[in-house]
Amino acid sequence: MLSTKVTCNSHGQDSSYFLGWEEYEKNPYDEVKNPKGIIQMGLAENQLSFDLLESWLENHPQPSAFKNQKNQSIFKELALFQDYHGLPAFKNALVKFMSEIRGNTVTFDANNLVLTAGATSANETLMFCLANPGDAFLLPTPYYPGFDRDLKWRTGAEIVPIHCSSINGFKITKSALEDAYKQAEKQKLKVKGVLVTNPSNPLGTSLTLHELDLLVNFISSKNIHLISDEIYSGTVFRSPSFISIMEVLKNKNLMNSEISKRVHIVYSLSKDLGLPGFRIGAIYSNDARVVSAATKMSSFGLVSSQTQYLLSEILSDYNFTKSYLSENRQRLKERHEKLVKGLKTSGITCLDSNSGLFCWVDMRHLLSSNTFEGEMELWKKIVYEVGLNISPGSSCHCSEPGWFRVCFANMSEQTLDVAMQRIRSFVDSLAKKNMSRHQQLMNRNSRRTKSLPKWVFELSFHQRDVSADER
Ligand SMILES: Cc1ncc(COP(=O)(O)O)c(C=O)c1O
Repeated sequence: MLSTKVTCNSHGQDSSYFLGWEEYEKNPYDEVKNPKGIIQMGLAENQLSFDLLESWLENHPQPSAFKNQKNQSIFKELALFQDYHGLPAFKNALVKFMSEIRGNTVTFDANNLVLTAGATSANETLMFCLANPGDAFLLPTPYYPGFDRDLKWRTGAEIVPIHCSSINGFKITKSALEDAYKQAEKQKLKVKGVLVTNPSNPLGTSLTLHELDLLVNFISSKNIHLISDEIYSGTVFRSPSFISIMEVLKNKNLMNSEISKRVHIVYSLSKDLGLPGFRIGAIYSNDARVVSAATKMSSFGLVSSQTQYLLSEILSDYNFTKSYLSENRQRLKERHEKLVKGLKTSGITCLDSNSGLFCWVDMRHLLSSNTFEGEMELWKKIVYEVGLNISPGSSCHCSEPGWFRVCFANMSEQTLDVAMQRIRSFVDSLAKKNMSRHQQLMNRNSRRTKSLPKWVFELSFHQRDVSADER
């Protein structure tokens, strides 16, 4: 009775990424009411700096009461018709905020900005603008699981993975880009572009200048687009510092070139300001045709007027944004260190990272087999027995089993402590089990050796000598 679009499974709802959320919803951890519940560590939410925003709101009560700075009501203006170009004051404040995050090394023009209901809508809108159904975008793995839904589901576009590996810390290489392109050609897919997340979700690392150079050279040689999802740009809490694709274009003197028209940025306030519920996203493009098409499309996912008004007031307070960004980075840094140290005491290491709301955690040594079945087995144990919802690497299309994304900014410090204790006792119990299995094996072997007749022993020693001589 329903359309093929809604009944096809390219939404990705059955991915372990979303299944983990469902398990958490059934049994959510609460320090007092449900201390044995599941702790949500699969949600890239930033709850570390709410107090800063709350105290700003307390000191500036007018915007949330639909009043201007003269204390006059603007309720009617906000409630009546909004066209899809967005409030100029908000767009101006947002482009300044984006520049500030990039250390004012680049400036953005508000005329090139399209507002969307979050980065989810921005990414999908760009797909609608740049790709026909059946065209492909190349994405480095591991990537944000939501992309399967956002880029493919309604647009009919395809994703072809650029396989990155732990050997070089999951960096993008020229050969990985070329291989992905060839793979798409093999599948008879027309490649329309590359989409990267900088900084990366789930790696928590920002792209190096070398990787960014590779990407610009690649899209220019293949005559395709580059989308840079920079939703985590304000979360870079330690060196190396963040380099936006716009900076690379500027430094290469490509700002007014044809190539720059094929480079588009996606941004949102969901992570840097921790406001995913407000649905504030944006597309930034140097191509006026893309801006115009995306603006028309944004009718399907506008940011409400009162949200734009409130945020234009917050973001225009430059002293506030400056101190917010620096304090938020400091808090993320401390939280990140706490998670890395906590895991280390359990013998678990993370990919060295400088940004994001999560760590990319190496649990390969805890797998029963070096397979994705082994990864799922471990993931289920961690969700159901340990009580932590983390995201398995397979849900991010990682090509190697045993990696997990673990979020650290969506909970209190106490909850993170409980999570670390749970991991520690899990790893200890695994070690004990392995020890006793090893002991049993040793005992069985020694019983077997004792029961063997003497001649078997002599024969085996003799054979070992012979084979040693042969070597
Ligand atoms: C890389 C990336 N892009 C886009 C999104 C979606 O963000 P929004 O809440 O702004 O739609 C996320 C959310 O986790 C993300 O990690």
